[in-house]
Formats: sequence, structure tokens, C-alpha cells
Amino acid sequence: MNKVASPAEPADAEFFLPADAFFRANLPTGLTFDDVSLATLYSEILPKDADTATELSSSLRLQIPVISSDMDTVTESRMAIAMALNGGLGLIHYNMAPRDQVKEVARVKRHIHGLIQDPITVTPDQLIGDVLARIDSKRFAFSTFPVVDSAGALTGLLSGNVVKDRYRTKRVADVMTPRAQLRTALQSDVAKDPIRAADRFFTENVGINKMLVVDDAGGLRGLITASDVERITAEAKSRRKPARDQHFRLVVGAALSPVRKPDGSLDRDRIIEHVGHLVAEHVDCVAVSTAHGHTAGVGDVVRLVRSAFKDLTIIAGNVTSAAGVAFLAESGANAIKVGQGPGSICTTRIVAGVGIPQLTALHVAGDAARRTGVRIIADGGITKSGDIVKALTLADAVILGGLLAGCREAPGEILEINGKVYKQYRGMGSLAAMKAGSAARYGHDKADSTRKVAAEGIEALKEVSGSVDDVLGNLIGGVQSGMGYLGAANLPALRAKARYIRVSPAGQKEAAPHDVIEVSTRTSNG
Ligand code: XMP
Repeated sequence: MNKVASPAEPADAEFFLPADAFFRANLPTGLTFDDVSLATLYSEILPKDADTATELSSSLRLQIPVISSDMDTVTESRMAIAMALNGGLGLIHYNMAPRDQVKEVARVKRHIHGLIQDPITVTPDQLIGDVLARIDSKRFAFSTFPVVDSAGALTGLLSGNVVKDRYRTKRVADVMTPRAQLRTALQSDVAKDPIRAADRFFTENVGINKMLVVDDAGGLRGLITASDVERITAEAKSRRKPARDQHFRLVVGAALSPVRKPDGSLDRDRIIEHVGHLVAEHVDCVAVSTAHGHTAGVGDVVRLVRSAFKDLTIIAGNVTSAAGVAFLAESGANAIKVGQGPGSICTTRIVAGVGIPQLTALHVAGDAARRTGVRIIADGGITKSGDIVKALTLADAVILGGLLAGCREAPGEILEINGKVYKQYRGMGSLAAMKAGSAARYGHDKADSTRKVAAEGIEALKEVSGSVDDVLGNLIGGVQSGMGYLGAANLPALRAKARYIRVSPAGQKEAAPHDVIEVSTRTSNG
């Protein structure tokens, strides 16, 4: 059936302006998320069909336009794995030794969903009593273990039904199912799609619910449980596609800081050596992350990395001007981070008196990005899914800090205060983070951070918000709703169709729940 949209009405064209006319009409005022609302448009798009895929370069494609921030309380390998499994990207922070950052990247690139790569094992000479004591002290929720010898070779399987008190004086070797009777799978056969291989294995081997994966030499390489396969297969129906490279590995990025020698000059050798190690582990992009990207130093780092690694995707920032975008694009960056001071833990605007409200900054930056062929990433200040929709009308992706810092997968301990549970979240320009290594991001020497320097971030707590799956599920659901309201089948259509209106303080009040007694409106996305 050929559907026809109703004819354009002059009143809509007069009141709901496209980006350029809108941001110009509001000059000299800079606008941010809550200052603006989007006009709805005729739609044939159901939210669930809206395509959220985006690109950060011609070689780096994401299924969802969301990146977890390179902050030491947000992204290490666990967060990056969860982000990529949901179709996004994690940027591993740099407040750690360079070799540790390389290891974190390797953990993501080697992650195989569903495969427990370091299963808990027992040895043939242990007593069942020792195994029981270990289960008790470590609070394991399982009691079946692969048995390996001192060289790591699989010698048997200790089944949960013999890990009983009545056998406590027996040796593992005497009660285990020996290697010769075990059905195993070869690592090379399952590597491409372990879940499908395991699904077939469990169907063919009735009653077995652990698939032991071995290498050609008989070494134990991992374990897949039937219950994990069932859970992952069920989730796959509702889950977005993971973001993978062309070899089926999850994607990941790593942040770089402009490391300097004691005389203040860039330490070119160290930077190149470190990026070389990251590339050897197949990192998908590096992010030159600083508070002020439109500087000679950041331009030098981007040029240096570009000259040594022609095909590597480089993200650089942060800037809030068209000149800043053009400068980083000319230096060789593929995607530019936009945002100075909008972040939830940022004090740059208060301390240094600089920065541009985020939507105006994105619009100005977008102009230069289109001319120079680079992508724009909206970094900071996003507190709800509607902000992401607004950002994506002007940018190719968003970076989230605060919205992800409360997730289980973020680094850091869970703290309990008055019956509520929290995780630490701190600005990379806070004194504590600068002492841990991020001083260069704010143009200070690491040694400065023990003297008096002006912190540009605070240390805070976020209430624990569940898993990345849950948080992103809510956020992307909101983004797809927004796309449905604008009749946008994909993100380029969202950018082309967006029409804006300014919101007054009364309009902002109207936009949130009001004049009711709130029972519970809390969701994991705020
Ligand atoms: P949200 O709002 O998502 O912001 O929590 C995260 C972004 O904030 C930036 N960032 C900082 N900005 N001082 C700043 O001015 C800081 O200490 C600081 N730490 C992080 C960064 O761009 C991040 O992605």
C-alpha cells in the first residue's frame, strides 16, 4: 500500500526550525539539552524497527551509538565487554600502567561470550574435603569442576554428585570421571561460534551439561555450561547485535594521554611504542583524550599516531568550536569528541570560566565535521535517554560517564550507606584522579597534582543501577522511541528530519512529572 504523508503546513515550518536556522535564531545564547525539544513528525516507523547503527570511521561500525567514557570509575575490560556485547564501544581509561591497559584491551579482544576462559579447577591429588572447604570459603554456587594436572592438561571431571561430605576422605582422582570417558570439544572447532557449537554439543550428548574445551595438546581452554547457553540463546532474541571486528572479536578502544618527557616535550617514542602494543592486540581505536583538544600538543599526538598507524581509527578531543574540529581533522583524527564542561562531575566551567552549552557546541562542531568528513561524538552532560536523542540529531554517537558509573560492570567497590548501595564516580580532573595519573589530560604535570593545582572535577557517588544490559536496554528503547516520533528509520534520517523548539523554564517544568505525588518513577536510566 502506498502511504501518503499529509501536506506540509506553513505553521510547522515557521515554528519548528531545522538546526541551522534554530541555533542562529537563538544567538547569542548557547543552548543545552533541557533548553530544547524536538517536534514530532509524520511517521511510518515503529520504534523497534528504528536502526541505531553508526560509524566512527570507515572501519569502525557500532550497532548502537553509545560509548562508555574513558574514566577510571567507568571503563575497564568488564565494562568494555558489556558495551560491545550490547553493540556499543568501551574506551579503556589510561589511569593505569601502559602494560596493564594493553592487558585490558587483550581481555576484551579475547573474550568469547559464554566461554568461561579461566574455569575454577581442582587437582587429582586433592581430597573431596578440601574441595568442600573451598566451595564453602569462596561461596561457589556450583560443585562440578574440571580436573587438571600441574601442566594444565585435562585429566577428568569432578561431578557435583560426588562432592559430598560422605566422600570427604577420598581423593579427587578416585571419584572423578576420567579423561577417557569425557566428551570434549576442540578449541579450534568452537572458536568461531562457541554458543552454536555448545548448543549442538548439548543436543547430541544427552544428560551432559558442561562442555569442556581443550586445545590440540589436551590443555583445558575453557568451559561452557548448558544453562549459560540457554540463557544467552534466549537473550539473543531480544538483544541487539554485538559490535565486532571483521574477525568476529568484540570491539574496544583505549585512551591515550599526551605523555611528556621531564623537559616538557612529547615523549614520542613512548607513545608510539604503547600504541604499537595496543595495535598488536587488535585495538579498534585510540582516543587522545584531553580537556582542551585545540592545542599544539594534542595536534602533535594525533599527527604522530596517524603517521605511524595509517589505518587506525583515532578519536580526539575535546573541543567546542568549528576551528577545533577542523584542526583535529587536519591532524588526522577520524572522530572528534565535543564537550567542555557539560559532564556531571565537571567543574571546568566554574573553575576556568570556559565551555559552550552542549547542543550549540555540537551544532557548531557539526558544521566543520561535514566539511572535513569526520564524525562527531557528544561527550558529557547526558542524564536521560531524551538527551541522547537530542544529541544524535547533531552527532554520530554519545559518550556516557555518569549514566554507566553505577553499573555492576564499572570498576570499583560497591559501598553501602544507610541501606543504599553506591559506586564511586569521579572526574578525571579531580585531584584524586589526577594523582592516579590523569593530570596530563588537564595540562598539568603528574608531579603538579601533589602541589596545588586547580581541580576541574569532583569526586562523587552514583547509586548502583543494575547491569549495563538493563541500563542500555532502557536508554536505547528511549532513543528508538524518539526516532519513531520523528519518523526516522535510521540515524542519518534523524539528523535530517530534526526540527527544534526552545523550551521556557515553565516548559521544562511541564516536561517532567508534575502536580502529582510521585510513587516510583525511578528507572535505571534516571
Ligand atoms: P557525564 O555527564 O556523562 O560526563 O558524567 C562524562 C564526561 O565528562 C568529562 N570529564 C570531565 N570534565 N572535569 C571536566 O571538566 C573532569 O574532571 C572530568 N572527568 C570527565 C569526560 O569528557 C567524560 O566523558
